[in-house]
Amino acid sequence: MSASLVVGSQWGDEGKAKVIDYLSKNIDIIVRYQGGANAGHTVVVDGKEYIFHLVPSGIIYPNTVCIIGNGVVLDPEYFLEECDGLVEKGFPIYKQLFISDSCHLILPFHKTIDELREANSQPGEKIGTTKKGIGICYSDKMNRIGIRAGDLFEEDSLKARIKTLVDRKNEELVKLYGVKACTYQEVLDKLKYFYDRAGHLIINTSYYLNKELKKGKRVLLEGAQGTGLDIDFGTYPYVTSSNPTSGGAIVGSGIGFNYLEKVYGISKAYTTRVGEGPFPTEIFDKNGEVIRKKGHEYGATTGRPRRCGWFDTEMVKYSAMVNGMTELVLTKIDILSEFDKIPVAVGYEINGKKLEHFPSHGLEKVKVVYEEMPGWKTDIKGINEFDKLPSECQNYIKYIEKLIEIPIKIISTGPGREETIVIED
Ligand code: IMO
Ligand code: MG
Repeated sequence: MSASLVVGSQWGDEGKAKVIDYLSKNIDIIVRYQGGANAGHTVVVDGKEYIFHLVPSGIIYPNTVCIIGNGVVLDPEYFLEECDGLVEKGFPIYKQLFISDSCHLILPFHKTIDELREANSQPGEKIGTTKKGIGICYSDKMNRIGIRAGDLFEEDSLKARIKTLVDRKNEELVKLYGVKACTYQEVLDKLKYFYDRAGHLIINTSYYLNKELKKGKRVLLEGAQGTGLDIDFGTYPYVTSSNPTSGGAIVGSGIGFNYLEKVYGISKAYTTRVGEGPFPTEIFDKNGEVIRKKGHEYGATTGRPRRCGWFDTEMVKYSAMVNGMTELVLTKIDILSEFDKIPVAVGYEINGKKLEHFPSHGLEKVKVVYEEMPGWKTDIKGINEFDKLPSECQNYIKYIEKLIEIPIKIISTGPGREETIVIED
């Protein structure tokens, strides 16, 4: 067993990339297994900030092999742009990167339709997507009309597949939205350009991963988004179109679950959400703005201000269950240093009745039951030993740990690699 998994336990932006970067020093291969350029993963190394959208966050380690798994939807134009940007910064990443031949490709019309659908939605229907074409591309995958990276090797059938897809998309573009049709030739040209530049990176990554795992190599599976955005376990329909949860890691990488050793759930010491959808612990007074400002809670992909709220033990306990989390990593605890008292959600009620668990419908109707914890009111940024944290902060962490029923093993006190507390067994 030598694979571990990093998965978001809230609505994304939990600080997964910092944890992946931290864990990567002992890792040989990192795999993105779902989502696409909707992710925004920020890593800070030696005071320099790197933001990744498609490429796994471990790429800045020179000897780590990075894989874009079959479960990802890859935007060829965006991919080349991100890779070229990294090469410019001095990372020779084309030497350490593979793309699954089964991953689906996002084409320009996917993004156009995503945008048009959002713009033409009635209030209440809008999802608040990142407009990266994610849901539209995954629909084509499920409809069995999508284009996969491996199709680029089969010229004749590729042409036929593009034709079918372009015809179908033009129905929507022209008839439904009254915009310009896309042409077969422009799609073919874009794919040819991608193939010329990145064709040598496209392999059967499932086979590669299993071969390397058998040799004893250590693999880290990098989740994007989070459990609250999962198409099955999240707050449907206000979700993304993939499975960020553990099951998605298996399906989206092609390794057996028997290889999975650890499932790290990542959670902020508070909660954020971007886009539409229910959010029980959302803060509407000035405290929300305090967190947003101090925590730089603005989307790394879209720049939108994130909605901020208190830590929700019901949600994280549910995430721990559906993902089979073995431990939790608590991030951004330093952001809470401002507060005299810190509310923690400890349960939900509907019409005065306590709910047994995080509900799969009707979340917008719950009344949150809070417990107020004393704050610590002192700067803890960069502290890297648990015993050096103020006692109120230690109590906050222990209180959460007791309620979520899994151990908190890593605590992040700042964005840098060294601003990390590891709790030894
Ligand atoms: P990382 O990996 C936070 C949200 C969008 C929207 C919903 C659907 O950085 O944690 P989509 O474009 O996926 O169809 O949008 O999902 N969303 C994210 N929110 N972090 C992300 O990724 C997200 N990726 C998508 O805001 O509400
Ligand atoms: Mg993000």
